[in-house]
Amino acid sequence: MKKNELKELINEMTLEEKIGQLVQVTPDFFDQEGEITGPAAEWRLSEEKLFQIGSVLGTHTAEQVYMIQKTYLEKSRLSIPLLFMADVIHGYETIFPIPLALASSFSAELTEEVARLSALEATRAGVHVTFSPMADHVMDSRWGRVLESNGEDPTLSAELTKGYVRGYQGTDLAQDTERLAACVKHFVGYGAVQGGRDYNHVDLSPIELHQNYLPAFQAALDEGVKLVMTSFNPINGQLMSLNRSLIKETLRQEMGFDGVVISDWNALEELLAHRVVRDKYQAAAEAFEAGTDIDMMSDCYINHLADFSGLDSQALDEAVYRLLTLKNELGLFENPFRGITANAASIEHSLRKATKEAAMKSFVLLKNEDSILPVSQKQRLFLLGPKADSKDILGAWSWIGKTANAISLAEGLSHRVPDLTIGKAASWAELSAEEYLSLCEEARNSEVVVLALGESSEETGEAASKAILSLPESQIELVKRISAVNPNLVVVLFNGRPLELTAIEPYVKGILEAWFPGSEGGHAIAETLTGYYDPQGKLPMSFPRAVGQLPFSYQAYSTGRPLTEKNQTEKYVSKYMDVGNDPLYPFGYGLSYSNVCIEAISQSAEVLTREKPLTIQASVKNPSTREGVATVQLYIEDMVTELVRPVRELKSWQKLNVTGETTERCTFTLTADDLAYVHRDLKRYPDFGQFRFFIGLDSRTTLAGQFEFCES
Ligand code: GLC
Repeated sequence: MKKNELKELINEMTLEEKIGQLVQVTPDFFDQEGEITGPAAEWRLSEEKLFQIGSVLGTHTAEQVYMIQKTYLEKSRLSIPLLFMADVIHGYETIFPIPLALASSFSAELTEEVARLSALEATRAGVHVTFSPMADHVMDSRWGRVLESNGEDPTLSAELTKGYVRGYQGTDLAQDTERLAACVKHFVGYGAVQGGRDYNHVDLSPIELHQNYLPAFQAALDEGVKLVMTSFNPINGQLMSLNRSLIKETLRQEMGFDGVVISDWNALEELLAHRVVRDKYQAAAEAFEAGTDIDMMSDCYINHLADFSGLDSQALDEAVYRLLTLKNELGLFENPFRGITANAASIEHSLRKATKEAAMKSFVLLKNEDSILPVSQKQRLFLLGPKADSKDILGAWSWIGKTANAISLAEGLSHRVPDLTIGKAASWAELSAEEYLSLCEEARNSEVVVLALGESSEETGEAASKAILSLPESQIELVKRISAVNPNLVVVLFNGRPLELTAIEPYVKGILEAWFPGSEGGHAIAETLTGYYDPQGKLPMSFPRAVGQLPFSYQAYSTGRPLTEKNQTEKYVSKYMDVGNDPLYPFGYGLSYSNVCIEAISQSAEVLTREKPLTIQASVKNPSTREGVATVQLYIEDMVTELVRPVRELKSWQKLNVTGETTERCTFTLTADDLAYVHRDLKRYPDFGQFRFFIGLDSRTTLAGQFEFCES
């Protein structure tokens, strides 16, 4: 449709039809199955209102979409096609590693490819929009939704977010019916929920908000994201669903967003529970006035907005126009059954190959004492633990992915290790005396014992906060008892968040962080454990020594009484009495079998100016005989700043393939813009003065140089 035709269509619409376009419900309103991702609705719609709504979320199959769309077009007066949205977070039916795992790859190319393939599968099921990427800044793994995030660094998160948007949307949504419109979420600050408890209060300073929480959203906007979802939380005391300042001034005016703003599930009605509105009428009025276009799964707009005496008809037309424009960009007026008429050629094989490769790029080798890994395929292996033969390896938000056809670690290893014994997967407490003794015997007679531990999918994602991050006692007990029988112990972790591994670390020689690796997880882990693939992942989020350290980020501040090598025993220092300040495993950390290392660094000058960027080089050595991948990271430290700044900030990284017994050079270019930070006036710009830079394979690197940023 042409723009003027859209405007003519709006002129034909009644007030109720305009408001209806701004309402989104689940498929059960049309008596179809679907995904329920929030509190069930206690309200229903008359047939007249139902055939005025604008979009549906949570369908599972092409048949459902076809039935709902066909019925709707027949029964609605103007036959404006419905928009179908879904949480395609890390795959649709073929499930990829969770976003936090993909973030371990430090690769925007990977997030782009995973998004593209997810869209390929989801569009065939009639989905038009995905509620992804999640761009929340996170520092607290008590919050289960870190699973969906890109981790604790705003720069890394911004780059990975752009990759997702590129992969989902492509360049022409009307022509390329195998792409999805993306909805970046949750705008803004949801990752800062107090106590890591989901849906809890948030309070952020404007500086912190602009410095760390908005950049990934700006990145999504710069990449052309079509929708923004507001978050459940308040900012500066105002719930995001009715935060006019952050939606109309910051998001639309300052950040330049002209697409659709959608609330989160039932967030408008929940304004009553927050006690910031008297009734649904006020909720509808204030949310609409603040700039929330679509009301997801509440009946505030559909039953109360028409009564709002102050309803600005122009604003209403503009909101409807934004939604109809999105439908038009997707080509729905010409092709309301977009995607589901696509060829039925199976793509499963290529997607399963891709998810296995994505998983191998996301594993993080946390410990490898005595080079116990990789194991040889000739060694006698004993595999046990609650996740050993578990197919529960898809993680939260795995949509219609079937655990039944996920490849367990037991299946994966049995394909690659002839002499493999698989023990009972029970936790320690459930074992009988005989079972315990035979388990110990088996462990004693094996060359390497692999323990598969971690979380269940149910323990991760939304509404899955934890105050205790150590593994369950039964799993810790298993580690201790098996290590007493055979010290050649490797743990493979299946988890959706950084856990507290302090209790098991001393008892094991190897730890492979596998996250929730997706449909081909077992094969991917087996190929990594047996050395076919060298683990290359780097932690996108620190693993704490203790949950009491949270919220935690490597971007720590010096404080007025910094802990140093010299004052460890002094009292009046910023430290804990019971654990160190540092994490067990830091941001950017991850080992490899090839043991690549940074041999030397050099810089092009001592001075950096706007006209003359600084070139920094590092030589990366691979001492082994196998191919290795190094993720070389560049951090800076601004020595004297107007506002307090962290002592270290990631500015750039490069993934380098280094063949065995060779040395490669990598070159970084630091510009004045890289030195910028948010000042009192909320503007982002650099201060002149002294800086240090650090190059390394994790955020603790001490390989440093220094330079001065001058006017000329
Ligand atoms: C949920 C989540 C959001 C999701 C939406 C639709 O409550 O907060 O991330 O996209 O509802 O399922």
